Amino acid sequence: MRATPTCIAIAGVTGKLGTLIASYLLDTTEATVHGFCRSPEKIEKSLTDRPSRFKVFSGSALSVEDAQKAITGCSTVICAYNRMDFQLMVNSSKVLIEACDAEGVGRFIASDFTLDFRALHRGDLPPMDAHIAVWEYLRQGNENGTIQVKAVHVLVGIFVEAFFGVFFNPKEPKYWGTGNETIDFVSYKSAAEYAARVANDPDEPTGFVKLVDFKATMNEIATAIGRIKGDGSPLPLLHQGSMSEAKEQVRALAGTDTPWHQHISLLSMYYFQTPEFQLGDDLDNHRYPGVKKISLDDAVKEFVNY
Ligand SMILES: NC(=O)c1ccc[n+]([C@@H]2O[C@H](COP(=O)([O-])OP(=O)(O)OC[C@H]3O[C@@H](n4cnc5c(N)ncnc54)[C@H](OP(=O)(O)O)[C@@H]3O)[C@@H](O)[C@H]2O)c1
Repeated sequence: MRATPTCIAIAGVTGKLGTLIASYLLDTTEATVHGFCRSPEKIEKSLTDRPSRFKVFSGSALSVEDAQKAITGCSTVICAYNRMDFQLMVNSSKVLIEACDAEGVGRFIASDFTLDFRALHRGDLPPMDAHIAVWEYLRQGNENGTIQVKAVHVLVGIFVEAFFGVFFNPKEPKYWGTGNETIDFVSYKSAAEYAARVANDPDEPTGFVKLVDFKATMNEIATAIGRIKGDGSPLPLLHQGSMSEAKEQVRALAGTDTPWHQHISLLSMYYFQTPEFQLGDDLDNHRYPGVKKISLDDAVKEFVNY
């Protein structure tokens, strides 16, 4: 167990999650936060208004030297990069890992914040390939001693903002399987709080940490939408096929040259609904009591436009 207060670095501090993690750390802990990014002018003023505890470090995501300057003196580095292609996400994560070892940083929290992708192999589901590659790189490096920084993977499920805002269209609500498969959900705010609490935890947990807000099936989502936003009867869902048929379609894409972005709806709903990618019952929520979780009803009220 390490002493607090501590210093925590966030790479990608201009992003939505990075900003929320930094805010939570500044608001509720005594930690100092180092924000690393390429465009410091985009950092929220509420963070830069606290210069005694929030330090800005601008630089390139591919420069080990820049990364080292940003993380010097920190016990944990959180990567919150997103919207990078596969190679850039992997390379920029490797840069942070190399910088962690050069600076003696204890833990590196990878930019995961997703479902449990460990049942996947590279190529199975292209949007998850970078997560798998970074996980394998850290695991092999930790095992053979070439990487000293300890890997942390925070798994949180699907962000309700992404699910209801992008993938689930209540005017054309599609689903795979039986509709009774359980899906794990979280809000951006809770995901940030979970990440911050793992980073600031004096017990310094490592490995996979699983934290969610609520679980719901597509049928339960349809019932909640009908009850809260509709006439009381469940929203009628459009059946796309079985989970095995979804898997077959995803596998068939792997053999083609079509850019996966063109099939993001299929790939995402397959990922969201497949039971083996859910976080299960052995969750770590008990470690962090007091997090204000979002409920299915609140998510429907706030994010479903119906
Ligand atoms: N489970 C889910 O449903 C779900 C949904 C969304 C996100 N996530 C996860 O949450 C994490 C953060 O996502 P987010 O939504 O907060 O992302 P975001 O708002 O898009 O922020 C992405 C961050 O990455 C930085 N970045 C992108 N390209 C870069 C480059 N070439 N060089 C340097 N920095 C670059 C951005 O910097 P600029 O501001 O300079 O562009 C920004 O700081 C990711 O791990 C993502 O996988 C999960």
